[in-house]
Amino acid sequence: MTSVAEIFETMEYGPAPESDTPARQWLAEHGGAFGLYVNGAWTRVREDALFDVSDPSTGKLLARVTQGGSADVDAAVAAARSAQPAWAALSGHARARHLYALARAVQKHARLLAVVETMDNGKSIRETRDIDVPLVARHFYHHAGWAQLMDTEFAGYGPVGVVGQIIPWNFPLLMLAWKVAPALAAGNTVVLKPAEFTPLTALAFAELAHDAGLPPGVLNIVTGDGETGRLLVEHGDVDKIAFTGSTEVGRIIRRATAGTGKKLSLELGGKSPFVVFDDADLDSVVEGVVDAIWFNQGQVCCAGSRLLVQEGIADRLTAKLRARMERLRLGAPLDKTVDMGAIVAPVQLERIRSLVEQGVREGATMWQPSWACPTDGCFYPPTLFTDVSPAASIAQLEIFGPVLVSMTFRTPSEAVELANNTPYGLAASVWSESINLALDIAPKLKAGVVWINSTNLFDAAAGFGGYRESGFGREGGREGMWEYVKAVKGSHGSASVAGAGAPPRQQHASASADEQHQSNADGTASLRGESGDANGTPALPALDRTPKLYIGGKQARPDSGYSRRVRSAEGRTLGEVGEGNRKDIRNAVAAAHAAAAWSRATGHARAQVLYYIAENLAVRAHDFSARIDAMTGGTGGAAEVEASVARLFTYAAWADKYDGAVHNVPIRGVALAMNEAIGVIGIACPDDAPLLGLVSLVAPAIAMGNTVVAVPSEAFPLAATDFYSVLETSDLPAGVVNIVTGARDALVKVLAEHDDVDAVWYFGTRDGVRMVETASASNVKRTWAEWDARAWGDAHMGEGREFLRQATQVKNIWIPYGE
Ligand code: NAI
Repeated sequence: MTSVAEIFETMEYGPAPESDTPARQWLAEHGGAFGLYVNGAWTRVREDALFDVSDPSTGKLLARVTQGGSADVDAAVAAARSAQPAWAALSGHARARHLYALARAVQKHARLLAVVETMDNGKSIRETRDIDVPLVARHFYHHAGWAQLMDTEFAGYGPVGVVGQIIPWNFPLLMLAWKVAPALAAGNTVVLKPAEFTPLTALAFAELAHDAGLPPGVLNIVTGDGETGRLLVEHGDVDKIAFTGSTEVGRIIRRATAGTGKKLSLELGGKSPFVVFDDADLDSVVEGVVDAIWFNQGQVCCAGSRLLVQEGIADRLTAKLRARMERLRLGAPLDKTVDMGAIVAPVQLERIRSLVEQGVREGATMWQPSWACPTDGCFYPPTLFTDVSPAASIAQLEIFGPVLVSMTFRTPSEAVELANNTPYGLAASVWSESINLALDIAPKLKAGVVWINSTNLFDAAAGFGGYRESGFGREGGREGMWEYVKAVKGSHGSASVAGAGAPPRQQHASASADEQHQSNADGTASLRGESGDANGTPALPALDRTPKLYIGGKQARPDSGYSRRVRSAEGRTLGEVGEGNRKDIRNAVAAAHAAAAWSRATGHARAQVLYYIAENLAVRAHDFSARIDAMTGGTGGAAEVEASVARLFTYAAWADKYDGAVHNVPIRGVALAMNEAIGVIGIACPDDAPLLGLVSLVAPAIAMGNTVVAVPSEAFPLAATDFYSVLETSDLPAGVVNIVTGARDALVKVLAEHDDVDAVWYFGTRDGVRMVETASASNVKRTWAEWDARAWGDAHMGEGREFLRQATQVKNIWIPYGE
């Protein structure tokens, strides 16, 4: 062992090991084996159900833990179910006291939790002690606050019910806190499954919660592997699943919960860009890179794993980075002077190795420090790749290890293009001394979190979560609380228009093979006997009605060349609409993409267009109400048109008012939570309220800057096709709203499967909901799918913040300041 005298000579770090004795004592108190924590008690340890949990830095056994089976999951869910009403019935203040007690318990046992976490996961004690555990406490404090304020700040909303939570191994206790704290604050009860590699701190936390007096059944911990996770996901009595882990498993969970009515949030993988402009402070950049990719050995979903450097400074930065890498300290994670600990498990180490080998094979230049990496545990040295092509596997795949790939760019727009060149969108980091440049780039990055001149900053007050294939939903802040609440039925007053909220009306449009008929060569269809007025009195023979779709600001003939008849309530043919198909949807999606500049229009400009649409609709109110009454056989048309005009006004009003927030994060700086457009939204409109349903969905989507492909009510599509003429005269840029008529569910399936569609909203049947949610898994697009009839005319159920939330995604931009 190095002596103190020698250390004075060399000025090297001496060993500074944190004691593992209290942690080992805690494990021994449990006999080295754990049952499950269900309904406020530990289940009996079953020898035949135990699996090993070991310390990845030594490979030595730490404890044995139970593989939860189906009876265990049933028992945990049943306990959560029976505890939930009483937990939700507690006052917000009472729940706040419980959460406060959990925060205090974490603080009082911080060192034990940090040491157990380090032993279980392999991450350095410096990180568990100074980052993970303090953030855990912070999360419970912050959410004690939301519990306290729940009644006033989430009026009209209540808990979702029983929540199943599945977490990964990279931040075991922190991910528990991110999931458990908001769930409990909102009045839900929880069954949590920790990752199989790292279950120990969840068990320690259960013990602390027990001692802190959390009522039985409110928090249940079921350990086990992916199979246990699957049982929880598929359990019929779970109301919501919250998952953090790989995109692959996220997709499986999306499909498994499709059509079940379970609420879902997914926090998945990433390949986050770390963008360095040539005016950046390079010494800060180097420390930033250390925190971005070597923090937690790079096993971080938002790790800055793609270094994008402006060409002129690339060589200088590479040299500085290599020098810094030489000085990183890697070794026994309980040593307080160690920067990097062990990789979580041999399988993960192998994955990293093989991806690095692939990078070398594909021609990139690999560099590692000269010092030797320990070989008797799961260690991997910090690694830097240069000469990487943007299409290389190492530039595209999430490596989840201490491996940085570096690429260069010339201009800011090239930087944005490279940064967004991945299916993921979790986080990004921008480095420049020019605040103008940095704040110009941040909104252009497809990422849920953007750090300016900083990286890997987290706080309970600021939401965290992804765009695109990094998942949906947020954790932290007010935005995260929405994931754990739902509207309380009947809590709203109702001011309904006629017909709104009624069950879907009988279907009159038909497109059976014998009824489909070919349009004429000029795109017209020969129809006679159209009503001349609202009473359906035949007047002059009607003019031919041209069956078309509305794509890219133009009326477009359906690709199929077919059209479908729309009949009145009495069976009379009222008109025809185009029979849209897959190709029409693809064209509409392309048109919606081409109109992306709409998202950059100001709220003020968007409001003016919405007012103008309202104005033009009001001018034609009589035609529209007559059309609706003729289609539906009702008399509510006039009220529905009036409500539609009012609704357009509502979203014109909101266009410049749905503000984000400035989160109060504990740094010298601010976190700006910006509500951004999602992109292209596919919308399947309900049959009830054919015009109002369409307007209620399209208006908030475009008010927030999205572009839309809408499939109108299949039964009553004419209100939508009449609407084209209103859109055409209202200064709406081409492609912002596209409308494709036809077989609604078949068309929406194409939208849900389409990789360039960012979200799908569907209001139809239960089977349709299942289809949409299943198909959406391909690119993990956001869905909002309901089969219950909605009261479209109700001022609370048919419009408002829920619609705006669905139409936006929150980007948190962290801006530290000061010299
Ligand atoms: P994983 O996604 O398989 O595991 C995460 C959690 O999901 C664990 O608790 C696991 O038991 C559970 N799980 C696995 N299959 C399940 C299923 N079918 N149904 C329900 N739950 C299931 O991740 P894994 O295998 O540990 O790591 C593989 C790769 O995933 C990593 O190399 C990394 O690239 C990525 N990953 C990303 C994370 C992130 O935070 N973004 C976290 C962990 C892994």
